[in-house]
Amino acid sequence: MPSPEAETPVELRSDQWYGGRNRNAYLHRAWMRRGIPDDALRGRPQIAIANTASDLTPCNVHLDEVADSVRAGILESGGVPLNLPVLSLGETQVKPTAMLWRNLAAMAAEEMLRANPIDGVVLLGGCDKTIPALLMAAASVDLPAVLVPGGPMLSGTFRGEPLGCGTDTWRLAEEVRAGTLSQEMFDASESSMIRSKGHCNTMGTASTMALVAEALGMTIPGVAGTPAADSRLLEAAQHSGRVAVELVNQDRRPSGILTEGAFHNALVALAAIGGSTNAVIHLLAIAGRVGVDLSLDDFDRVGSNVPVLVDLLPAGRFLMEDFHRAGGLLPVLREVGDELRRDAATVTGQPLADYLSDAQSWDAEVIRPRQNPVATEGGLAVLRGNLAPEGAICKPSAASPHLLRHRGRAVVFDSIEDFHARIDDPNLDVDEDSVLVLRGCGPKGYPGMPEVSNMPLPQKLLERGIRDMVRVCDGRMSGTAYGTVVLHVSPEAADGGPLGKVCDGDIIALDVPARSLTLEVSSEELADRSPPPAFTKSLAAPARGWSRLYVDSVQQAHLGADLDFLIGASGSEVSRDSH
Ligand code: FES
Repeated sequence: MPSPEAETPVELRSDQWYGGRNRNAYLHRAWMRRGIPDDALRGRPQIAIANTASDLTPCNVHLDEVADSVRAGILESGGVPLNLPVLSLGETQVKPTAMLWRNLAAMAAEEMLRANPIDGVVLLGGCDKTIPALLMAAASVDLPAVLVPGGPMLSGTFRGEPLGCGTDTWRLAEEVRAGTLSQEMFDASESSMIRSKGHCNTMGTASTMALVAEALGMTIPGVAGTPAADSRLLEAAQHSGRVAVELVNQDRRPSGILTEGAFHNALVALAAIGGSTNAVIHLLAIAGRVGVDLSLDDFDRVGSNVPVLVDLLPAGRFLMEDFHRAGGLLPVLREVGDELRRDAATVTGQPLADYLSDAQSWDAEVIRPRQNPVATEGGLAVLRGNLAPEGAICKPSAASPHLLRHRGRAVVFDSIEDFHARIDDPNLDVDEDSVLVLRGCGPKGYPGMPEVSNMPLPQKLLERGIRDMVRVCDGRMSGTAYGTVVLHVSPEAADGGPLGKVCDGDIIALDVPARSLTLEVSSEELADRSPPPAFTKSLAAPARGWSRLYVDSVQQAHLGADLDFLIGASGSEVSRDSH
């Protein structure tokens, strides 16, 4: 165990609070003492444990236990652990959508890290928005930071078949509507879905963001994807506590880790794991905080050279427990090692590439060799055209191959409520060649950009065995979802995007190989059209509170949907005192 004195840096940020013998230092120290020896507050790294545990965030409810292990690691290395509860977001619980508060959580965490006598931080996240929010906060305050992902839950099973969180919820619900699964069976599967503590066990957004964070260098390499119930997660948490102290002692900050090379590696990882479309929005937002010039097109450019190697739901067959058993992210990255920036550093001080030589896939079905990929082209297709001048995305590996080139008549819905009211109307003029269009679901329009783009299909088509259609929306979709869905259409309809002018019966042409999304309406006619009054009327701006601030300041999806005044970093300096 290193001696605290040996590794103590000359100047700790917390000494600005606790150092000296004046009145204010007395004030800061005295209130914190409460049985703590004086030397715990002076000359020892003060490490916050930014903890998103909450009873209302079921995926993160176990993080207090993880925090105990972090705490042990910090103490072992001579630091002082400090619990810092962080605004938490339970993806399945909060309405209208957790995305509405990702930026609020990031802003609150950033401000509290800056405001308090903290030298470094261990970030504890799990459920979808919590890891992005923590990384955005850490990037903007730029204090030494290491992330411990809370880990996926174990694989659930129902009547002998594996159940994947989210993905199988959507699938089973569609089977009920199609009449191929009874309501009783659907009800009975409910208690089997969530087998243990942890976040969704598919390659949804939580799993994706944990793995992407590892590729960014913000976790100890090899940790992401460790199931929440696996004792190795606690071991990694304790180790991360030690690393946090080391980061402070060596003054290694996120600005030295979240480099352009690190983001390149994250894009390679995202493609190779067949990760969630939500990672696009989160990575753009994190990059914006550190001034890395990442664009939507980079996801396509980098990802199209990378095969999908991980055979996990929603695009494949297996679950995160299988992925961890097969070796986790490192063997995946080893297979595509020639695509990586080999000098990009990690929190340990070692480049990510240094961890790959011994990495091995223990199950070639789950983590495929490069010569036998799940799909030859990973990544996300970035589409442009007169319907999405600033871009839209599609995940080809989760789409139906026969729909990747498609022309069809638009069937337009002005809101998700409008959609639910009419989609199962037997008289709705829709067939399997139609293109379902849903608008008013972007960052400003909803507000908050909910996960509604993977619209359920019309019941009358489900009953005929149709299981996929082209869908176009300015919202997001769950990382656990699948289908030929074109989403994140930018600019959104509520921000003047052409999606607001689409009429029932217009022809929409999707050509994923050509990366185009076209509304076959002349530019003259489109310029003459206005969004329907019923649509614009439904967009009443929030009168007050966070929603008002959000709508006034949120950027469009192709920029990461961060608030315009949160772009960039302010560092950790606080120039004025409180008394
Ligand atoms: Fe929390 Fe899926 S609901 S990760």
